Amino acid sequence: MEAEGRGEAGGCAGAPGARVYTREEVARRNSGREAWLVIHGRVYDVTRFLAEHPGGEEVLLEQAGRDATESFEDVGHSVDAREMLKDYYIGEIHPVRDPNVTSSGQTSFWSTWLIPIFGALVLGLMYRYYMLDGKSS
Ligand code: HEM
Repeated sequence: MEAEGRGEAGGCAGAPGARVYTREEVARRNSGREAWLVIHGRVYDVTRFLAEHPGGEEVLLEQAGRDATESFEDVGHSVDAREMLKDYYIGEIHPVRDPNVTSSGQTSFWSTWLIPIFGALVLGLMYRYYMLDGKSS
């Protein structure tokens, strides 16, 4: 399905053009057959590592489909373990953005100002119309 093109990332962590996965996509890969996890915003397919993990496959399966950053860090993995991560790297996690927030991190001008201004204008016009209507009758 959508996740089959994993070769693109080529194991080069953070490379531009790396495959991007949503959290929902990762969450679906948590069966005995497939285990993906997220560590520091990167997606790893640890399926073939399950049997080899020195900490056991149980802990990986527990974290499969989730963000395992905290548990990975809590264990205090060695530099070697961190190096191994790149063997299982398949892409980046999709950044979740608030549609009202622009890339610069500021709330959009449109929703902050234009909508209230437009609302006030409509209310003003309605009021005016109501007053004129009252005078003419
Ligand atoms: C792709 C991800 C991971 C890799 C490459 C990895 C690799 C390793 C390696 C090489 C070790 C041996 C000790 C060391 O060198 O630090 C280890 C131990 C261990 N790992 Fe992982 N690990 C991963 C993810 C996780 C996760 C998500 C957990 C979740 C709790 C975990 C829990 C443990 C535990 C409990 C040990 C045993 C520590 C000990 O015996 O002192 N690992 N891991």
